Amino acid sequence: EQPGEEQKHMQTTLVIIKPNGVQGGIIGEIIARYEKARLSIAALRIRNITREEADGFYAEHRGKGFFTELVDFMTSGPVVLLALRGEKAVEAVRQMNGATNPKNAQPGTIRFDFAPSMGENVVHSSDSPESAAREVAYWFKDSELVNYPAASHLL
Ligand code: RTP
Ligand code: MG
Repeated sequence: EQPGEEQKHMQTTLVIIKPNGVQGGIIGEIIARYEKARLSIAALRIRNITREEADGFYAEHRGKGFFTELVDFMTSGPVVLLALRGEKAVEAVRQMNGATNPKNAQPGTIRFDFAPSMGENVVHSSDSPESAAREVAYWFKDSELVNYPAASHLL
């Protein structure tokens, strides 16, 4: 559990806007969708990640056929690391992102709207509360997370 999650069902999940989302100029579009869904931004950073960091982050996929391609892609340019907090945030963000393969994604999801392929599917998000706790802590210190009520009256 992250700071500010004493309320039941309040969760913090980890999103990565992958290099093609950054290069494609849709950082703002993607973050706007999450804000409109009443998720708050607990942490936010843009930077390049190292192969070592990508390898550790995707440890569960080591040895799979797509692993090298995945690490190559994730280190091909800057990414945005985002911790998002809200009511059932883990599942909410998975729904908004859409299916891993954009060919199977529902209309209105980020991957349906923007992803050219499964390998370059624009966004990552944590797949369970347990993964979310690990992944948020992988990229951010507790002291880097902020807590505020998600927007309600300005949009
Ligand atoms: P993510 O972790 O990025 O949110 O996506 P996910 O849970 O839907 O997919 P996951 O199974 O965790 O796979 C991580 C990323 O690896 C790439 N991938 N390629 N060619 C393939 O068969 C394949 N399978 C997975 C995707 O970019 C996926 O997002
Ligand atoms: Mg995954």
